[in-house]
Amino acid sequence: MQFQWYPGHMTKAKRQMQEDIRLIDLVIELVDARIPLASRNPDIDELGKNKARLILMNKADLADEAASRAWTAYFQERGCYVVMLDARSKAGMKQITLVVMEACREKIERDRKRGIKNRPVRAMVVGIPNVGKSTFINSYAGKACAKTGNKPGVTKGKQWIRLNKNVELLDTPGILWPKFEDQRVGLYLALTGAIKDEILNIDELSLELIRVLTAYYPGVLAARYGTEEQTVDESAEPAAILEQIAQNRRCISRGNELDYSKAAALLIDEFRSGRLGRITIERP
Ligand code: G4P
Repeated sequence: MQFQWYPGHMTKAKRQMQEDIRLIDLVIELVDARIPLASRNPDIDELGKNKARLILMNKADLADEAASRAWTAYFQERGCYVVMLDARSKAGMKQITLVVMEACREKIERDRKRGIKNRPVRAMVVGIPNVGKSTFINSYAGKACAKTGNKPGVTKGKQWIRLNKNVELLDTPGILWPKFEDQRVGLYLALTGAIKDEILNIDELSLELIRVLTAYYPGVLAARYGTEEQTVDESAEPAAILEQIAQNRRCISRGNELDYSKAAALLIDEFRSGRLGRITIERP
């Protein structure tokens, strides 16, 4: 499920989002907890203004807990409710409904004053490709929900999933386009596997990962690959560390030379699968 974004795609996605957002009370935005800024498009702040906002820090199982707490505070300061999540697990889903209700309390109160009772809160899920939108909708909605179909006064063709008597969810998520202008964003999205490997320079990616790891998680590379992060007078260059990984893991090409790309791919794969531990690449 990977995307190549062109201006046409973005315009279409944006128009669709503007249409859908008019129908809802609450925007549920998924971000990748390992790269909470690179995995979001700040345009959603403008598109979703005047709506209640809930940010789900998804893939929190792969992220560093202390960093996730710092990010939670960061988003809360900006007026969002925040929940850390592993969308593959159904465990946290009850709590989400409580937070949804809390986030929409003002609206529910307003309805009550106008004599409108028990009108469910309407929400939609948004996020960039691969952030876990479908996984989340499946876990959250589960089997218990019934699709309510078209509603009078609501745009034709929109399907709502009735989660319980309080919450309805638009069944198709809104797809946000990543902000590629900053080169680092592209690198981070690639590192987490959100964009295609084929279009990337795997060696360059691994060097960026080594930079992040030596800066934020000293000792992790040494523990896993037996590398030396420090030389006598300064810290080792990322390329030198990659070379050590290639040596220590016997990444050898046919000509009996060190195969850097193989070492790079190995490192990235172990990072993505969580074998290097819980790692957050971006800091608030
Ligand atoms: P999307 O709709 O936003 O495009 O994303 P989708 O749900 O398809 O999820 C993309 C990938 O992320 C899936 O993996 C999914 O299993 C994984 N994923 C979603 N939420 C979480 C989470 O909280 N933690 C972790 N660790 N992974 C999550 P996939 O590569 O498509 O398949 P697979 O790796 O599960 O086989």
